Amino acid sequence: MTDYGANGIGFMDGEYMEMKDLRIPVTDMGFQLADMCYDAVHIKDGKFFRLDDHLDRFAEMIDKRRFTTLGFDRDAIAAVSHGCVARIGLKDAFLMLIATRGVPASAKKDLRTCQNRLIAWATPYHAIVTDEEMEKGCDLIIAETIRIPLSSVDPTVKNFGRLDFVGALFEAYDKGADYAVLLDSEGCVTEGRGWNIFALRQGVLLTPDSGVLEGITRKTVIELSGALNVEARLARITAQELKTADEVFLSSTAGGIMPVKSIDDTNIGDGGPGPVTLRLQDLYWKLHDNPDFNTPVNYEAAQA
Ligand SMILES: Cc1ncc(COP(=O)(O)O)c(C=O)c1O
Repeated sequence: MTDYGANGIGFMDGEYMEMKDLRIPVTDMGFQLADMCYDAVHIKDGKFFRLDDHLDRFAEMIDKRRFTTLGFDRDAIAAVSHGCVARIGLKDAFLMLIATRGVPASAKKDLRTCQNRLIAWATPYHAIVTDEEMEKGCDLIIAETIRIPLSSVDPTVKNFGRLDFVGALFEAYDKGADYAVLLDSEGCVTEGRGWNIFALRQGVLLTPDSGVLEGITRKTVIELSGALNVEARLARITAQELKTADEVFLSSTAGGIMPVKSIDDTNIGDGGPGPVTLRLQDLYWKLHDNPDFNTPVNYEAAQA
């Protein structure tokens, strides 16, 4: 079976390497406890999109996770980001930045004795939905599995502790869908594996106000909605409100703005991407050419 990242270039423990050589010890608490955080950035036409926002968010996550022994500051992480993308040498790429707790010094597994680890890799650009779903829309279910409460795990720190998403996805597969959105314990919409969600109702664009990752694409959509004269609002959204919305779409660095065509077998709008979704998609990709939002990749970093 081909690994989707087989052609990637990685970085770990101070070295660049081929993706196949990127291996963490099974004793790393990032594996054993999902004690890690990550960010994902995309590169289009040789330029990172909103790199500063991603680096700021990643630095905040590292602080929140108390990864004090990482040994890479924001500038060093930026250099590794350029280093990975330059080495893969592609104009359209995807970059993962991961910090793990690392391996504890003794069997007591005192987390304060770990040497935190920075891992990064660049792969060819990919979306999390297929080309057909991007064009026609995705089928979504509202899962019975509840999102891990934010009082247990802070969802603003992107992490791989995702068994709630796994349970929800198998609910979706069992119902013939490929995507699941999770509710919180009060029955309000949160997010899914790898994306935030938006609902257009009565001309207002709504997205969950809490219990979610504060996505960079979500932020971009909110900023762009002004250009369309569409009000965007952070809100509590019930399952019923989501299902009866005029338009629904997902937002993620891995795909941008991705239309939803049905929820729990009920068509959204006409059962295809709605006009506001399509206009936002267009503005989103055009924004990538704006120098205020992009950073050219230093391809010469491959020589360093
Ligand atoms: C749980 C979750 N929510 C939302 C998002 C979207 O965030 P962004 O727009 O920054 O890619 C992601 C991205 O991977 C995610 O994992």
